[in-house]
Parts: sequence; structure tokens; C-alpha cells
Amino acid sequence: MAKLRYGMVGGGPGAFIGEAHRKAISLDATAELVAGCFSRNHEKCLAQGEILGIAPQRCYPDYREMARAEAAREDGISFVVVVTPNNTHYEICKAFLEAGIHVACDKPLVTTVSEAEELERLAKDKGLLFMVTYTYTGHVTMKFMRDLIRGGEIGTVRTVMAEYPQGWLYKENDWGGKQGEWRCDPAQSGRVNCLGDLGTHVENAVATVTGLKIKRVLAKMDVVVPGRKLDDNDQILVEYEGGATGINWTSQFAIGCDNSLRLRIYGSKGSLLWFQETPEEVTLIREDGIPNIIKRGYGAVTPGAAKYGRLPSGHTEGWLEAMGNLYDSFAACVQAKNQGSFMEDMIDYPTIEEGVNGLKYVEACLKSNEKGNIWVSL
Ligand SMILES: NC(=O)c1ccc[n+]([C@@H]2O[C@H](COP(=O)([O-])OP(=O)(O)OC[C@H]3O[C@@H](n4cnc5c(N)ncnc54)[C@H](O)[C@@H]3O)[C@@H](O)[C@H]2O)c1
Repeated sequence: MAKLRYGMVGGGPGAFIGEAHRKAISLDATAELVAGCFSRNHEKCLAQGEILGIAPQRCYPDYREMARAEAAREDGISFVVVVTPNNTHYEICKAFLEAGIHVACDKPLVTTVSEAEELERLAKDKGLLFMVTYTYTGHVTMKFMRDLIRGGEIGTVRTVMAEYPQGWLYKENDWGGKQGEWRCDPAQSGRVNCLGDLGTHVENAVATVTGLKIKRVLAKMDVVVPGRKLDDNDQILVEYEGGATGINWTSQFAIGCDNSLRLRIYGSKGSLLWFQETPEEVTLIREDGIPNIIKRGYGAVTPGAAKYGRLPSGHTEGWLEAMGNLYDSFAACVQAKNQGSFMEDMIDYPTIEEGVNGLKYVEACLKSNEKGNIWVSL
């Protein structure tokens, strides 16, 4: 497969997730970074570009100019990676879609359902691909659990306990540096903090693995640490179509928790347990009650999931590889689009539809909370 060319908006000096995307894409060398608007500050953008070996004329002072210029070049980018704070995603994604460029944007997709649906329509009208990088769904073990549930291994899913607590923002007057400051600021984060940052991961992880669709939610969203303006602890009761239920908990002040995304899925014939901090293991418990720990790299893992592994068992794979797996599928789809051989069933990454669902979940939870913790349908 010939290497694709891609660009990035965000991911400047000291930024978090942009560097992770660059490393993840480089794992399988499917695409080469050739352009960027890494920061609103052009000097910082040029400095980042120099470190990354990008030609100065392709380090743009503004993302709109980048979209226009790259679309006009014969050797322009095939896709753009958007890794800026949440409130900027909509305008940036729109500019690249309008220029005819495929988009990979980090979550949460945007800050309102109407913006999300507008981007979805635009991508569809233009025939462009749009990935939303819910990183955790790229883990081999997540794909394996999805296959097990589809194959009926635990029967009908009855209830799902899902949580993603973090502890980094537990302290009063400590805003968690550059990354925490914008997340806690309504002007940059939108109407939610914790629910957008972590809750959308939980919603997407459950949906991806179980295939369940949320019917309605009852949300208790709290602002706990003194001085915060947005939610930092969310407890959501969920009812799924078909009658399954669940509880989603996210927090930013749970001392001792780092990226503790955990799923416990209970079905009519068995249970599945998964913890993102030990992402190479799935615990499957059948009706005999015996816990079976199945590790990535072993023959028990379904072929559709196992194919994403890069190393033999015991050589640990993790979060960067999960992100790389999303890009493997996305890059293959972009290549196929370029060659005219794309088919919908090639997609094995989170699409814009999932980004829209994330915003629908957020808006329903906000409404439930504002109206006194009532049930709200999605
Ligand atoms: N998938 C995941 O697991 C995951 C993890 C962390 C963050 N995220 C998401 O990634 C996004 C970025 O988060 P982060 O923690 O990397 O933030 P960050 O503050 O570390 O980095 C943001 C970068 O965007 C740049 N930027 C801001 N506005 C810009 C603009 N208009 N044009 C060009 N550059 C601009 C900043 O200069 C900075 O370099 C957020 O949407 C966040 O929710 C996802």
C-alpha cells in the first residue's frame, strides 16, 4: 500500500494527544505527516514543524488557509487529524470537509448535537470519510469482546456496569495544567467537562462492544471540587432498547485512578470483565462460574480481533497500539476511496455517527440533570 499524506491541526509544543496520534499512525507507516497548523501561534507552529521535519511553507498560520492550500496542491493531504480543544472541532472539521479532505477528529466530536449532525450531513454529501478517535475501541480485546457478544457467547446482555474514573483534578485551585485548564473552562470545553471528556468514552465503549442502543438516561451530574464550573462527577442510569440496563460513572477526583475505564457486562449465559489498564486481558465467565482469563496473542481470540495484534503474546501492547489499529482501518478506507474500491463494510473504526451519538448522550444527560434528574429519551 502506498503511503498516504496527512496533516494535523493541533498537537503543538507541549500538547498531549497530537503526539500520540503521530506515534500511532507511524506504527504501521500507513501515512506520512506533511502539513500542519499545530498551534494558533505561528512561531510555535513553525517550531513544531521543524521538529517534525515539515517544510515551513506547509506549516500554516491558520487552519482555513491550510485546508484551502492543501486541497489545491497536487501532492496535498488525503486526510487531516484534528486534535484541538473541543470548542474548535466544528469549524476546523467543516473547513476540511468543505475542501474535500477526509477527517479524523478526536472526541468529543463537537459540543452540540446540531453541529455534529451538520458535519455528518456534510461528510455524507461530499462522500468523505470521518473517523472519531474513541481510542479504547481499538484494543484487540475490545474487538474480541464485541465478537464474543455478537456470537452469543454470553447470551442476551442484561446489564452493563461501566466506569471511567480519573483522579488528576481532585485538588482545589489546581487546574491540571494546560490540559485541565481548557477542560474545566466552559468557554473552551462546552457545557460539560467530565461527561464530554470521559463519559463519551464510556458511552461509546459500551455501544461498540455490546451493540446496545441507549433508549433513555437519568443523570446526576455534580460539580464537586470547590471552584469548578463544570461537572467533575457524573452518575448516569441507562436503559437500553430491548430492556437491558446499566450504570455509567465518570469522575475526575477519584484519587488513585488514572485511566480506569472498566466494563462489566452481564448476560443471560455469562459475563465479560475488562479493565483498560490491563488491556491485554478479557475475563469470560460462563454458566459454570469459572473465570477464564483470555490474553491477546492466544488462539482463543477471534481472527477479526487477533489480526490487529502486532507482537507475540507477552510483548505487551497498549493504548498507542489501540489508536494505531483505528488508523489502520481508516487509512485502508482512505486508500480504497482514492482507488475507487471502497465499500462500507471495510470500516472498522468509530465513525461520525458514533460521534453524533456521543453528543446525543451528553445532551440527554444535561437535560435530565437540569430538570431534576428525570428520565430523558435519546
Ligand atoms: N482519544 C482520547 O483518548 C483522548 C485523550 C486526550 C484528549 N483527547 C481529545 O483531544 C483533543 C485535544 O486534547 P489535548 O489533551 O491534546 O489538548 P492540549 O491542550 O494538550 O492540545 C491542544 C493543542 O491544540 C492547539 N490548538 C488550539 N486551538 C487551535 C487552533 N485553532 N488551531 C491550531 N491549533 C490549535 C494548541 O496550541 C495545542 O497544541 C480534545 O478534544 C480532547 O478531548 C482525546
